[in-house]
Amino acid sequence: MREKIEALMAEVAALSCNTEQEIEQARVRLLGKKGEITALFDEFRTVAPELKREFGQKLNVLKNTAAAKIEELKEAASESQAGGAAAFDYTMPGDPVQLGSRHPVSIAREEIVNIFRKFGYDVAEGPEVEDDWHVFEALNFPPEHPAREMQDTFFINDSDNPVLLRTHTSSVQVRAMEKMPLPIRIVCPGRVFRNEAISARAHCIFHQVEGLYIDENVTFADMKQAILLFAREMFGAQSQIRMRPSYFPFTEPSAEIDVSCNICGGKGCNICKGTGWLEIMGCGMVDPNVLEASGIDSKKYSGFAFGMGVERIAMLKWQVRDLRNYFENDLRFLKEFETSL
Ligand code: DAH
Repeated sequence: MREKIEALMAEVAALSCNTEQEIEQARVRLLGKKGEITALFDEFRTVAPELKREFGQKLNVLKNTAAAKIEELKEAASESQAGGAAAFDYTMPGDPVQLGSRHPVSIAREEIVNIFRKFGYDVAEGPEVEDDWHVFEALNFPPEHPAREMQDTFFINDSDNPVLLRTHTSSVQVRAMEKMPLPIRIVCPGRVFRNEAISARAHCIFHQVEGLYIDENVTFADMKQAILLFAREMFGAQSQIRMRPSYFPFTEPSAEIDVSCNICGGKGCNICKGTGWLEIMGCGMVDPNVLEASGIDSKKYSGFAFGMGVERIAMLKWQVRDLRNYFENDLRFLKEFETSL
């Protein structure tokens, strides 16, 4: 008994625990119902009467010492916890977080779309994986048109009714005309795919925004006005546009739109190659064949359509010289657009 009491005294003296959990474990082990000290009290009942006085005193001292030690450890633990919290200054600024920035193509696309939204256009979207009908057939591409051939289009299969990646967002026009009630006034932003060699001026993936307006009595003059207003919103109030006759299977007549160079104000510089003009989009009056293919009465309705490359608009606006910058995700390039968040 004596040895046991002494051993436990030594153990209590040496006791060191840091966490509340460890302290509680020590308390249970020593002073709990089945604890070692409690067990000694049970054993004490069998001690010879002449030793009871000595052992009783020793046991009481042991018990009180252990209880005091546990209290002491608890206090120390809660103090160090409070001290730890006080040492943490919640008013200190946090570690800087590296925020990403919007991609310039996203910024440009949104700007284009927002301008047309202001004019009352809705946004329509369609699938990137398309069929021949929506990309070509319904848009009046003659069967032998070169854009249908493998060098331009990524075909997913070569069945009679092939699945392919859309080469332009004009496919969304067709989907809109098939299902939307008239009048239709939409812009269709999206990603397009062409089987082209990648260079500073061409890429196999890029983005377009298509526009379509169909109603009774829509005229070429309406188209010209809409595009002029767009150009002025996008490139500045001084901007002028000019139209050059062009050809697209789905519009008649068709035109290419140039905007006056926003760098030199039309005087001629190396961006506009001395011409004073920059090409920004194709457009035209929707061909009656295209209206009829989607079930619209071309005697009653007319409309115009236009299509522009988002990367191209962004290049002109921010003077980016190499299209590949948009796809390489070089942070030095992307960070230049941080302020446009
Ligand atoms: N789809 C044409 C292209 O990808 C762009 C285009 C030209 C769209 C004239 C039109 C348009 O709606 O009228 O090159």
